[in-house]
Amino acid sequence: MVAKEEDFTGNLKQQLVKLFDASLKLTVPDEPSVKPLVVVGKFEDYQCNNAMGLWSKVKGKGTQFTRPLAVAEALVTNLPTCDMVESCSVAQPGYVNVVLSAQWMAKSIENMLINGIETWAPTLSVKRAVVDFSSPNIAKKMHVGHLRSTIIGDTIARMLEYSNVEVLRRNHVGDWGTQFGMLIEYLFEKFPDSNSAMETAIEDIQSLYKPSKTKFDADLDFKRKAQQAVVRLQGGDPVYHKTWEKLCEISRADYAEIYQRLRVELEEKGESFYKPYIANMIEELNSKGLVEESDGARVMFIKDFKNPCMLVKSDGGFTYDTTDLAALWYRLNEEKAEWIIYVTDAGQQEHFDRFFKAARQVGWLPDNDETYPRVSHVKFGVVKGEDGKRFRNRDREIVPLADLLDEAKTRSKAALIERALAKEKEWTPEELDQTAEAIGYGAVKYADLMNNISTDYKFSYDKMLNDKGNTAVYLLYAHARICSIIKKSGKDIDELKKTGKLTLDHANERALGLHLLQFAETVEEACTKLLPHILCEYLYDLSEHYTKFYSNCQVNGSAEETSRLLLCEATAIVMRKCFHLLGITPVYKI
Ligand code: ARG
Repeated sequence: MVAKEEDFTGNLKQQLVKLFDASLKLTVPDEPSVKPLVVVGKFEDYQCNNAMGLWSKVKGKGTQFTRPLAVAEALVTNLPTCDMVESCSVAQPGYVNVVLSAQWMAKSIENMLINGIETWAPTLSVKRAVVDFSSPNIAKKMHVGHLRSTIIGDTIARMLEYSNVEVLRRNHVGDWGTQFGMLIEYLFEKFPDSNSAMETAIEDIQSLYKPSKTKFDADLDFKRKAQQAVVRLQGGDPVYHKTWEKLCEISRADYAEIYQRLRVELEEKGESFYKPYIANMIEELNSKGLVEESDGARVMFIKDFKNPCMLVKSDGGFTYDTTDLAALWYRLNEEKAEWIIYVTDAGQQEHFDRFFKAARQVGWLPDNDETYPRVSHVKFGVVKGEDGKRFRNRDREIVPLADLLDEAKTRSKAALIERALAKEKEWTPEELDQTAEAIGYGAVKYADLMNNISTDYKFSYDKMLNDKGNTAVYLLYAHARICSIIKKSGKDIDELKKTGKLTLDHANERALGLHLLQFAETVEEACTKLLPHILCEYLYDLSEHYTKFYSNCQVNGSAEETSRLLLCEATAIVMRKCFHLLGITPVYKI
């Protein structure tokens, strides 16, 4: 059997899986459910690990095979002939090692150069997804935890968008919780008869939170009033509603500034948006016999969970659980989303586990959590300061995000100026400002994304702004260097793309080429597992492969100049796509 070249989707691993699938069907026709086990190889490019498992399945059942190695040999014999595979070999006890054809690899990279990196986009089986991220709480400060959610959520959304999934980017802001009763009641008490004084006070929303919370915790009478105020607000009382709107508006402007700086797009559908869907949602649960009374409250008990989902409190108020259930109903039924992804700190794990289980109990979601429609909770660790404690400033206060971004930019600007002085380079003020911003903000994002999501990470300007090691600065510089090599050649790279030929003869060229071709399967893995650090690791390895290539293979002025320039360009394109997916603005000059 001969495999056709047009089968190639840009995803090496998938293509090999198809080939080995065909071979398995011929080798063990009685085992149709066996899936190909293809992984990146330890010794060669890829390896297929099916033979050992198959051997234990078929031995003693009158098989023609005498040992696992014989199964591996048969897998090789039955592999369809194709341009992609140069050769296969078997190794004890039954591995199949695959060497790809360098010529075929070169051709695939040439195709990407001509047709664009979009041809390497993963194909996912979902059409529409909701990514629920950032989601700060109105009137409270947006802190580094929300920054983490914003950065991680944006990258997940970008990876899905690249994979041609329609993404609904949702800012599920906390605009409906108990803090409003407290704030509004506090404002009413403080400004009993001056509307305009109250409005001025609201402008400085951040300074309202603390004193009202202190009063809430200390004064029982006030606490009761505040709780009643929430119920009145949730019930639609116009006076409460007006003040609430004003509070939301002010907070919103604060967030908008941060999102604009980070170039993150989000559509606000806050908790209050789902209010009209609550009654029907509760009715549905009730009709299925899932709602119970408990001390005057209406709750839903969930298998294996001690605490129930709180639907209506004894005072008539709704909770975080109520809104999340109504929002899930809306996302599944009105928005027809197949995959709903929530990005929050790991502290909320219990809430999500319970509420997901509730949704399965109602029958909104299938029991198997990998079948669509599907929900996923991306839970991240705490951001710590260099002292290992929660990230705070010197006064142990939460660091406002705007200050944090300013600081990253200022430091990166200072480093750029110093570097320019040493190298006698000139920057225009705009260039300097834009580059400092790209590097500063890029460093903050990358330092966050490069860690495995669930781990806590230490926030350190010095570390993230270092131009050596696994940092955005190092990677952005690497990209700028590649661009300057291409520029120095004086060649029209777009013309070369159309006519030039790429070869991967040198071992370092081949290794770089292979890594470039592994981009598609890497994004697919990072995207389906919801783990952006996989993409960061890939990007860092790419720059390492490039450095080896560049140290050992002369580009400009060599006999292989055209081919090597094309390899440089392909590297720059893949790097830029990685930056794009990580929400980092690339830099072309340093
Ligand atoms: N506002 C919440 C917080 O700051 C996060 C909301 C996450 N999304 C959700 N659908 N529960 O912790």
